[in-house]
Amino acid sequence: MKNYIELLKQNNQEHLLNYIEKVDENKKEDIIKQIENLDFEQLKLLYETSNRETDKAIQGIIIEHIPFVDKYKLEETKYKELEDIGNSVIKNGEYAVVTMAGGQGTRLGHNGPKGTFKLNIKPEAKYLFQIIAENLQRVNQKFNIVLPWYIMTSTENNQKTVEFFEEHNFFGYPKENVRFFNQGNLPLLDEDGKLLVDENYDIKIASDGNGSIYKSMKKEGILEDMKKRGVKWIFIGAVDNALLNMCDPILLGLTIDEGNKVGSKSVVKANPHERVGVFCKKDSKPAVIEYTELPESMAEEIDEEGELLFGESHIMCNLYCLDALEKIAEQNLPYHSAHKKANYMDENGNVVVAKEPNAYKYEAFIFDGFNYFDNISILRGRREEDFAPIKNAEGVDSPATAIELYNKYWKLEEC
Ligand code: UD1
Repeated sequence: MKNYIELLKQNNQEHLLNYIEKVDENKKEDIIKQIENLDFEQLKLLYETSNRETDKAIQGIIIEHIPFVDKYKLEETKYKELEDIGNSVIKNGEYAVVTMAGGQGTRLGHNGPKGTFKLNIKPEAKYLFQIIAENLQRVNQKFNIVLPWYIMTSTENNQKTVEFFEEHNFFGYPKENVRFFNQGNLPLLDEDGKLLVDENYDIKIASDGNGSIYKSMKKEGILEDMKKRGVKWIFIGAVDNALLNMCDPILLGLTIDEGNKVGSKSVVKANPHERVGVFCKKDSKPAVIEYTELPESMAEEIDEEGELLFGESHIMCNLYCLDALEKIAEQNLPYHSAHKKANYMDENGNVVVAKEPNAYKYEAFIFDGFNYFDNISILRGRREEDFAPIKNAEGVDSPATAIELYNKYWKLEEC
């Protein structure tokens, strides 16, 4: 193994030596360990993806519309048939649910894990985690089962999340069927590709995006646990959608009926510029283009019927069979970069509060896992039944809009 000084010099990161000089022996050892654990080759590649223009992310790739099935245009007999297929999987105990809760509610302005945000719905306010727990309990009661529930957290919020569940007695969910696991991290890089240091003299890291879920589930023994429990189909959803339907037998039935290993629910985009990823085919493989990477011309393109050509929104309502998850866990998903504000400590020990974006954060996206299959099933649902996202403190996709949708769906307006 190369000496850490050599490693830093070779990789243009020798500024870290100025920090190491200032700390005691214990901390020095700790920082050296952090340096030795870095994958400098990967960091170089990541830095090259930074600050790409939007269209570069899809440059040279053939993007096409992807077919979908509209849940409410299915014939009654077909609907029933799919429902029976889906219900039997759930009833047989072959279904599990994963909640992605590694993100922080930064845009929402909530201090803490996003699932601990309390939504002021009727008749009483509920935490996002509570809404999910209660919805799963409803399914458990209907089928007389207990769904295994896995929750992905991040280094940043794991402890707080687990404590929150303990404090609230898991909202009545059978504790032995809930398992937390952590997602991965990656260092941030500044605009010159340099590593940043935080106020504890640690190399500044951040969660590496919800796409790291596949490898994390493998590494943390979640896939193994699912196998042991006889789970065959796994739903993976976000923590921040108050209307997320985690057990739609039609999505399950459709995916099985179409002979696919992956399925996903969509809703029609509210307008061409809604901040959602959209389904498409990339070089003939199923994919999603994230809102941050969709060129404006494509966002506005319409088909012969006047519908948006890329109008099926990815609402993080995704379904996989176990071997699909095992397959994706073996792949290296691409990383996408985001230009962000990151506070850091300068070489004189002063904390610098970023007022403008000054660093790149690298994230894998969950939907890049779709790309490893020839086909996936897409079921178009209805926004008023499936999608009440909570992203911003005010305005669109805010608690106010989610509360309205939630109350309407559960017919609670008059309470
Ligand atoms: C996400 C989707 C977007 C979709 C939209 C729908 C991705 C990359 N983008 O965008 O396609 O249309 O939701 O609402 O999935 N999370 C983690 N770890 C992370 C980052 C996020 O667990 O490192 C979780 C969050 O806790 C949350 C979910 O992923 O449950 C969505 O994350 P967020 O960053 O809010 O995604 P959006 O940008 O809204």
